[in-house]
Amino acid sequence: MAMMWAGRFSKEVDSKVNAFNSSIAFDARMYRQDIAGSIAHATMLGEQGIISMSDSLELVGGLKEILADIENGTLQFDPNAEDIHMFIEAELTKRLGDVGKRLHTSRSRNDQVALDIRLYLRDEIGEIKSLIKQLIETLCKLAEEHSETIMPGYTHLQRAQPITFGHHLMAYAAMLLRDLDRLNDTARRMNVNPLGSCALAGTTYNIDRFRTASLLEMDGAMANSLDGVSDRDFCIELASALALCMTHLSRFSEEIIMWCSWEFKFIELDDAFSTGSSIMPQKKNPDITELIRGKTARVIGDNVTLLTMMKGLPLAYNKDMQEDKEAIFDAVDNIKLCLSTFIPMLDTMKVLKENMRAAAARGFINATDCADYLVKKGMPFRTAYKITGGLVAYCIANNTTLEELPLECYQEQSELFSEDVYEAISLDTCVKERKSYGGPSPESVLSQINLTKKKLEELFNV
Ligand code: ARG
Repeated sequence: MAMMWAGRFSKEVDSKVNAFNSSIAFDARMYRQDIAGSIAHATMLGEQGIISMSDSLELVGGLKEILADIENGTLQFDPNAEDIHMFIEAELTKRLGDVGKRLHTSRSRNDQVALDIRLYLRDEIGEIKSLIKQLIETLCKLAEEHSETIMPGYTHLQRAQPITFGHHLMAYAAMLLRDLDRLNDTARRMNVNPLGSCALAGTTYNIDRFRTASLLEMDGAMANSLDGVSDRDFCIELASALALCMTHLSRFSEEIIMWCSWEFKFIELDDAFSTGSSIMPQKKNPDITELIRGKTARVIGDNVTLLTMMKGLPLAYNKDMQEDKEAIFDAVDNIKLCLSTFIPMLDTMKVLKENMRAAAARGFINATDCADYLVKKGMPFRTAYKITGGLVAYCIANNTTLEELPLECYQEQSELFSEDVYEAISLDTCVKERKSYGGPSPESVLSQINLTKKKLEELFNV
């Protein structure tokens, strides 16, 4: 097949080189954005008198027909085309003849592809944001149901202090809110028009880059043409925001995997969101969460791919940059897959409250509260800490708990102890009284939920 740039060449490209060079297999998905960019460009060329108004209208009409034909399946992508940009331009020329050949006036694939990726990712960010929003809403709903469900909180994976399941869930909501904020930032920096940078050095035509920007609902035009065609910061920023969001999902997944185990049994996943073993009939495996944990590795890898791809590139466009798409598309596709499976999985899981509570009742997670009891009666914290440590050691040696320890044992260690110690160290008190701002008490969890809902609204009104 003769290439559009065949003029300078005396031979056709080797078929292996052609296949190696071609990106249509993975950039065809940007056809809508490519056509939208071309429509804006053709409109601007007409308005500026760079091409005639009638040619401009014909180009726009032809592009709209191509879009309709791709969407209704009558026009298929040619796998031999070099990329989506060449494919659409060639198809336009096939349909319109010489008029089609005017579209590429004062444009290069370098600014065209930079625009297409920005437009494509802008749409994808919108979808990812709405999935994250659904996940946060699911978390708020579950946290409200479990604002009083007591579970052990951990450090070093050792039982530490009592919290509520609602509080634990809202920690993830807080991470996801930051993810949304980062996506907003990324989208804002991404939504600037590179079109009109042309190959690298702008153009001698009297183009209006701000007009194409406004036709494409972008916020202004990129200030430097070299940067316009060679910047992929927005891909890296997005990949990094997605890698971090995946890292949050992966930590959550890891916890769910533990919670499903017989060793914890804090939750049970719905049958529709678990899988069995081909040999062990008793098995019910949390494959979804394991896959999310696994896919986090590849999204992190996508981010590293993009950084590494860019780190040695001289200005301006280099073909290395064609590799940006598979990396960033992979990150986008995978996070969408993960989020849309994770949400219903969470929504349908059974929370085994009694097991959480039973785990909280062992492991001396009220020891800090026992020390605080003495502190509130006037003892310095370090002294109280030491006395409580002694009591815990005594309980362990005598196979008992702080709740069950007779008052005489307490009073042997300090006469500040009286009957009300049992109330002070009961799990319910320990949780209810942790109402410091951001703490796990039921009332604090409910206020976290309200704040989260408010912040969510703000993040969608930017
Ligand atoms: N397919 C190319 C890419 O994805 C489009 C830009 C090609 N430009 C060029 N001068 N070869 O990066």
